[in-house]
Amino acid sequence: MARIGILTGGGDCPGLNAVIRAVVRKGCQVHGDVIIGFRNGWRGVMDGQVMELTPESARGILHRGGTILGTSRTNPFKVEGGVELVKENLAAYNIEGLIVVGGEGTLSCAAAMVLEGLNVIGVPKTIDNDLASTDYTFGFDTAVQIACDAIDRLHTTAESHNRVMVLEVMGRHAGWIGLYAGLAGGADVILVPEHPFDIAEVTQHIRNRHSAGHSFSIVVVAEGALPKEGTMDLPEYERDEFGRPRLGGISTLIAEDLQRRTGFDTRVTILGHVQRGGTPTAYDRVLATRYGVAASDLAAARHWGTMVSLRGNDIVTVPLDDAVAELKTVPQALYEVAQVFFG
Ligand code: F6P
Repeated sequence: MARIGILTGGGDCPGLNAVIRAVVRKGCQVHGDVIIGFRNGWRGVMDGQVMELTPESARGILHRGGTILGTSRTNPFKVEGGVELVKENLAAYNIEGLIVVGGEGTLSCAAAMVLEGLNVIGVPKTIDNDLASTDYTFGFDTAVQIACDAIDRLHTTAESHNRVMVLEVMGRHAGWIGLYAGLAGGADVILVPEHPFDIAEVTQHIRNRHSAGHSFSIVVVAEGALPKEGTMDLPEYERDEFGRPRLGGISTLIAEDLQRRTGFDTRVTILGHVQRGGTPTAYDRVLATRYGVAASDLAAARHWGTMVSLRGNDIVTVPLDDAVAELKTVPQALYEVAQVFFG
């Protein structure tokens, strides 16, 4: 029996509420814990914004997107006195351990808090699926399904108008969403950050397709896709508190260039936050629930400084440090599978 805190940080993601529900149900009903929810990520720990979570208050949220706790991209290490505030408030609320549900930024912060002496357990969340030490993060499956549905819809209108459709999806450093959605949706070119592109080659793929008698093409672009050096200028992006650029819009440059080079009518769709909103898929609900139950068990075992992770079909425990040491990017072999269908 313990007082356990939980926060959700970083970009929201379908399945966060399923984790919260699972932590509350297992923690309260099996381990006899009291679960304290911190509002708005690390910001709420610094400001002491709390809500007690009970099996009753965590009912009816399994299928809901977003997070009932709220989230933020606040990094206490970037706020004057932020780490001290975190420590003071956790002590004031008598919190023995904190379950941190987040992506790379939020969990890096959690790993640094472990070095500050805090008892932390991580749960890997991000639609980008770019966290190391786990096969999948929850939210990814939902985002891929949304992006795949968008490709299906773009197909019919592209075909009717004989157009090139450029679809931009999320994925800052890793092109998992673009690759999976593009493969599932039958994209004719997929551009990911891991594989810098040459616009002249993309143009050639489109021309080849059209010469072979196809009158339309679908190009899927991850927001972090990178042109080969010297082939295209990128805009200057703003940065968030974790120092990461706020991406978005590269597809517009690509579309303009493609239209100019090919003469084909070209249109852009930037899917944006639609990919993160709404109800999670069944797969994400199950994965998030399994993560939440496992995190509650780790807290009961006082197994701090760890993260729950999916390996194959098993939920395992990994060191939190390892999970944030590097990003999990799309391997070359998988990109080569997608390339079979280019052009
Ligand atoms: O972390 C997931 C992510 O979806 C990234 O792919 C994207 O760059 C970022 O969030 C955008 O989030 P926001 O607009 O909330 O800063």
